[in-house]
Order: sequence, then structure tokens, then C-alpha cells
Amino acid sequence: MDLVSAATEVRARAYAPYSRFQVGAALLGASGAVHVGCNVENAAYPEGTCAEAGAIAAMIAAGETRIAAVAVIADSPRPVPPCGGCRQKLAEFADPDTPVTLATMAGARLETTVGALLPGAFRPDDMPDT
Ligand code: THU
Repeated sequence: MDLVSAATEVRARAYAPYSRFQVGAALLGASGAVHVGCNVENAAYPEGTCAEAGAIAAMIAAGETRIAAVAVIADSPRPVPPCGGCRQKLAEFADPDTPVTLATMAGARLETTVGALLPGAFRPDDMPDT
């Protein structure tokens, strides 16, 4: 299954009763496995988590740490832009040239990269002694 399809499938399970904005994310791991996540909101609003964060958590739980490609989908007017925090989270586990597909349910697609989403990101190799 392609990454956008995987993101679309998990989006249907998003728990978003407050925003009613359901998001699905799929990550292709370096192993070839696909890891998915959806947004999970909370009555204490700031406690919600984004789809990308959920997919990263699933990837780490599966024992994988490198992202080869990303897809995110929502029913948004333009291909859904990841929030700033998720851009940083993706940069932790991807290379700047790792491809990202941002998608809408209506069929729009924006092809970009992790580096284009967060130029000059603070990265693990900025702390060489840790
Ligand atoms: N959201 C995501 O899960 N990923 C994005 O890329 C953008 C926003 C979620 C967070 C919140 O549950 C809802 O969308 C509205 O902001």
C-alpha cells in the first residue's frame, strides 16, 4: 500500500471530537515497514497529540529510528502543513532530503522534503558530544 493510502486509512480512526479535524500520517521506515499515526485529542486541549507524533511513536515502538519517506493527509483546503513541533520531531529521525507528501482528501498533493519544511533545523549532530 502506498504511503498516502496508509495515511488515509489511519486518518479515519483519528480521535478529534474537539477540532473535528482528522489527520493521518504514515512513515516509511528505513526497513521498508510503514508506521502510521492519527491525531488524538483530549478534553484538556493542550494534551492532544498530532498524527505525525503518533506515527513517530509507533515507529520507535517497532524498533526503528530512521524515516525514509513521510505522508500526511487531512480534509484541508491546501495540503496539510505539519505544525512547527512536528517538523522538529520529523527532523530528528529523517535527513533534510527525505521526501514528504502533504495531501488533501480532495486529491491535492504537495511534494516537499523534511529540510524544506524546517530549514536550518537543530539536529542531533549539532550536539556531537552527546
Ligand atoms: N494536526 C495534526 O495532527 N497534524 C498536522 O499536521 C496539523 C494538525 C492536528 C492537531 C489537532 O488535533 C488538529 O489537527 C487541529 O489542529
